[in-house]
Amino acid sequence: MKVVSTIAEARAARAALGPLGLVPTMGYLHAGHLSLVAQAKAGGGAVAATIFVNPTQFGPTEDLSRYPRDLERDLRLLEAAGVDLVFTPTPEVMYPQGFDARIEVGAITEKLEGAIRPGHFAGVCTVVAKLFNILQPQRAYFGQKDAQQCAVIRRMVADLDVPVEIKIGETVREADGLALSSRNVYLSPDQRAAAPALYQALLAARGAYDDGERRAQALRDAAKAKLSGAVIDYVSVADRVTLDELELVTDGALVSLAVRFGATRLIDNLILT
Ligand code: PAJ
Repeated sequence: MKVVSTIAEARAARAALGPLGLVPTMGYLHAGHLSLVAQAKAGGGAVAATIFVNPTQFGPTEDLSRYPRDLERDLRLLEAAGVDLVFTPTPEVMYPQGFDARIEVGAITEKLEGAIRPGHFAGVCTVVAKLFNILQPQRAYFGQKDAQQCAVIRRMVADLDVPVEIKIGETVREADGLALSSRNVYLSPDQRAAAPALYQALLAARGAYDDGERRAQALRDAAKAKLSGAVIDYVSVADRVTLDELELVTDGALVSLAVRFGATRLIDNLILT
């Protein structure tokens, strides 16, 4: 496994590989990230991963400085998973003096996470576009865990004719339903014990849907009932492509929610079928 941290080295190492699957990450890897690596391996060809805690997608009051990091462990895990190339740039490599470009996707970046984290998706789109341009993958893998990120990246790639096939991997969960997240390490024991409520809330919405309920507000209410005592940022039942809130629900709708435990925000979602 080759590990590089400059753009010139990354381009040279990439040129030695054939068709490439890319897994972009911010590191502190868990089984969710590794499931994307496994899907990239199964997709055939070479596999590259990136580890970069991207400052431009964090708001001024967010957790950039305390975002968990363990590069040595990450590299061990990626090597064991059979990754061919890892790109671990510094912020100075990605955003040298004078850097002044950004990619803005429109309406879908202003809802849900975007409403609470202004500028977040411009940061995500800009860094993902740079990673695509540097590593020129044929396929790139993202997790359904970040449903809005998936929708935004798909929009960007479609609208800007980016020649990368976007693949979405299912959310990997703990046995009690909590979606794996690098941020779960912030949870106190009490908060960790309460955190499976997010998945319970999603299941309550799905249960109501399975029982024939088609009013989106009734699904939101069913989910909220499982989150009493938690600080809810949003509970959404929306079109999975446009992220417009629905009144009546059909198959394929996205149920998503964001909840705060102290200073830690957790998000989760599922698609109704
Ligand atoms: P990060 O939070 O490290 O996540 C990297 C990838 O892993 C994302 O595609 C995310 O959706 C996926 N992922 C996270 N938790 C998962 C889980 N429990 N199951 C399955 N997949 C999961 O998302 C980012 O980094 C950044 O925004 C990035 C795309 C790298 C741009 O900076």
